[in-house]
Amino acid sequence: MKNNFVGRSLCVIDDFNIEERAYLFDKVKQLKVAMEKNNKDVLNSFRIDDPDFGIYEVFLEDSTRTKESFKNAAKFHLTKVSELAASNSSFNKGESFSDTFNTLAGYSNSIFIIRSKVEGVCAHLENQCSQFAKRNNLIKPSFINAGDGKHEHPTQELLDEYTFLEDNDFNYDDIHIALVGDLFHGRTVHSKANGLKIFKNVTIDLVAPKELSMPEIYIDVMKDNGFNVNIYSSIEEYLNNNKIANKWYFTRPQLERMGEQILKRQNELRASITFRKEFIEKLPEDTKFYHPLPRHKVTPTIPIFLDKTSLNGWEKQSINGMFVRIVLLGMLGGSLGDDFNLKHEIKPKYIDEEYIFRVDTAARSKKKKDYSEGVNPINTGLVIDHICKGDSPKEIREHMALISRVMEIDDSKGGEWVSMGSDNKYKGILFRPGNKNFSRKELKRLAAIAPGCTLNIIKDNVVVEKYRTTMPPRIYNFENMCCKNEACISNPAQGESVEAMFFRTKDHKFICNYCGKAHSFKNIFK
Ligand code: CP
Repeated sequence: MKNNFVGRSLCVIDDFNIEERAYLFDKVKQLKVAMEKNNKDVLNSFRIDDPDFGIYEVFLEDSTRTKESFKNAAKFHLTKVSELAASNSSFNKGESFSDTFNTLAGYSNSIFIIRSKVEGVCAHLENQCSQFAKRNNLIKPSFINAGDGKHEHPTQELLDEYTFLEDNDFNYDDIHIALVGDLFHGRTVHSKANGLKIFKNVTIDLVAPKELSMPEIYIDVMKDNGFNVNIYSSIEEYLNNNKIANKWYFTRPQLERMGEQILKRQNELRASITFRKEFIEKLPEDTKFYHPLPRHKVTPTIPIFLDKTSLNGWEKQSINGMFVRIVLLGMLGGSLGDDFNLKHEIKPKYIDEEYIFRVDTAARSKKKKDYSEGVNPINTGLVIDHICKGDSPKEIREHMALISRVMEIDDSKGGEWVSMGSDNKYKGILFRPGNKNFSRKELKRLAAIAPGCTLNIIKDNVVVEKYRTTMPPRIYNFENMCCKNEACISNPAQGESVEAMFFRTKDHKFICNYCGKAHSFKNIFK
């Protein structure tokens, strides 16, 4: 059977499903025993052991743990280990990510480990380098996300999960965990939204002031995954409830990612997420604290006096980083994984479904007027009806201006109208006289910018074509669309020419394929 892991990438934690992660954790457990006993035969069976196998580290943001544990893990494997000196590379001459990594892939490198401020880099390179490898008859490399902006940190998530399990006698049944700190910027806690799915029952207590609170999209994912989620604004407030978690996961306030307004209040914000001596008596007996580290030497949120107490779970967590990364490299490099028998199954990002419905107009063709008030007199032209139903007249007007621009119907006669439907809700109607047919691509674009609308094509006072639209499950391949997160690889500010792509969520938002940012349908177009 083909090795399930070779050539795969880990861009987000969900790129490895629950069974695959359980396999990895099992191997880490075996590796740690072999290390302790110095069992050379077992250790050698873990190694890639190929001096021509290239593992390349590219760190465009600072790091100690991730970079050094990966470097040590790569050396364990007896492979070629390289590091790009990013500060004097051709990045400084404006070279793109794809040109840079295609170049390095051409020099016999099979695994890239990338840390960057730019979110979604690995997903982009996975796609770009596949094409490059195909064009040049090379083996496609793997990409490991070592932390991308405030998006995800999947290898930290793997080592966190492993440590929680180790402290839980490898029981996958329950976890009750408090996430404390900068939940807004912290990529390690964002990876927990899908990461903690490895446990059957999950309760997550989110402890952060409003300014540093968990983005709604990750709370939605947690709830979709069946987690029980509770929200508190400070440790003090949290400790006043009677169900305190026995696992606390702290994240550092990420001052380097905060705006000036928040920075002015940093002392007050930090105080609300810093543990104090008098809190100890309120903790359950078996409580452990964890932290991805680093913690600040002057203002640590886990104070130094706790290092010598039984609360200290973060030191073992940090040490586990190298073991987890040795196993991950072994799986992607092919020394491990042959004994994993399950088929690789990843939940699809979207389910294909129709979202443009042609309405039979034959039965209505005798009627002279088959559309709402305000569109008369249009003898021949188009009418887009039911726009933004339920919004305010101001919002509807603003959105009709955007529809007009996006659909490129803003340079002709016609107008926009706000009407009240029979259900007492406002809706927009946009009409343009003249001969106009919509191609399939234009109908798709209309469904994306005006889901829930109807499009009437009118000829000689008769509706000859009529369509209803719903929100598409996936939108891509439109030039005037972009992710609004400036840190995203697909945002024009990055200059990487990456085509935007979005997937619809259950509650009708569009999630960026690269950075995971949620957008309403109104704000994906430029
Ligand atoms: N936990 C973590 O990512 O640490 P570094 O920033 O030191 O790599």
